[in-house]
Amino acid sequence: MDKFVITGGTALQGEIPTNGSKNAALPALAAALLTEEPVTLHRIPTVRDIRTMQRLLVDIGCQLEVDGQTVRMHTPAITSPEAPYELVKTMRASSLVLGPLVARSGRARVSLPGGCAIGARPINLHIFGLEQLGARINQAYGYIEAEAPDGLRGATVQFDRITVTGTEDLMMAAVLAKGETVLKNAAREPEVADLADLLTKMGARIEGAGTSTITIQGVDRLRGAEHTIIPDRIEAGTFLIAGAITGGDLSVTECCPDHLGSFVSKLQQAGVEVTQTAPTTLRVRGGNMRSVDMTTEEYPGFPTDLQAQYMALMTQADGIAIIVETIFENRFMHAQELARMGANIRLDGRQAIVAGKHELTGAGVIASDLRASASLVLAALVAKGETVIDRVYHIDRGYEKIESKLAQVGARIRRVD
Ligand code: EPZ
Repeated sequence: MDKFVITGGTALQGEIPTNGSKNAALPALAAALLTEEPVTLHRIPTVRDIRTMQRLLVDIGCQLEVDGQTVRMHTPAITSPEAPYELVKTMRASSLVLGPLVARSGRARVSLPGGCAIGARPINLHIFGLEQLGARINQAYGYIEAEAPDGLRGATVQFDRITVTGTEDLMMAAVLAKGETVLKNAAREPEVADLADLLTKMGARIEGAGTSTITIQGVDRLRGAEHTIIPDRIEAGTFLIAGAITGGDLSVTECCPDHLGSFVSKLQQAGVEVTQTAPTTLRVRGGNMRSVDMTTEEYPGFPTDLQAQYMALMTQADGIAIIVETIFENRFMHAQELARMGANIRLDGRQAIVAGKHELTGAGVIASDLRASASLVLAALVAKGETVIDRVYHIDRGYEKIESKLAQVGARIRRVD
């Protein structure tokens, strides 16, 4: 199993590019199931979760070709409307095929995702929404069986909780449903709006994506399309913190500054200098930081996927920072590992109290999930001495070759098998 060996203490300098967004690519790949015509997607990151989704699509009947960060897909027919447990247990976002399969073939058999390191993460809202659209749902043997032999019909779906993939799944189900669907209390994440852009290019009729009310007029069929995925705001945010925590001068290029509003303003409140130096470039210059409280929220609030990285940063700030995690019930696994490196963090339910500024020292630590592993890499970049991070397969799920990208701006990091 791969590990990262990192020697801290180097201020990162230079330019570091942003990849296409993993969380925009996953629903976009699933959307290709909605048409029998070819769909081509550009800027698809070659990370493990994407490969899992590609395997699933091929099993379902998609002819798929990968050419660097371009993926060409063609699904003349759905040969097996199923997402098996073996794949879903490794990536819960596999449930994103549920809506497209029912919409396209009138049937889907999708494994329930099961528990996750960061929380229970049920998909009851996906199921509730499909039932509103007329699907008959049966749950047995760990699987969801969804049927709509006469097709889905438009309806109003009021989410009692904001769900990103739930909104995406229902949007993909509704584009081929008869009549009008209104999704209320929908997620406003940029990844949702990007999926709507792709679906609109395929001939779907969608209004309000990016707001909390999305209206979809169903159509009989969708056509093929070509689409370039938005940049990964979470990867860009991770790199901005890498520049700040090492006291460096880093330009994060090919990103979308608009998607990082609340995050950048939080860094600026903490005394980090972040400036937009070009339409797709943010420059960060580290220096003395002060502790600032933060509460995670749905978009456009502070993203939960940058909470762990922000906690690492606050271990190097003057003062006390209170971090409140409102989205997932168990997303502080990184705190104990950061404490092994000398951080002073006290957990109290969904609250973490981070007492900065403590010198971190290198240690052996274990990654528990994707974003927790990113926070350990950031802490190791500033820690005295050498850190060995175990189970980096977690980070490979969502960051493409992060060690070579960081090494190119001066980090002393290497992957060891
Ligand atoms: C998406 O997950 C992202 N994943 C997550 O990123 C991200 O953390 C999350 O949104 C929140 O921003 C992808 O886009 C592939 P939710 P998702 O449904 O859609 C509860 C990463 O690091 N809920 O918005 O699964 C749920 O338990 C990953 O890249 C229900 O109760 O998250 C959670 O507490 C991690 N029932 C909350 O809502 C449901 O049916 C928000 O979850 C659905 C969700």
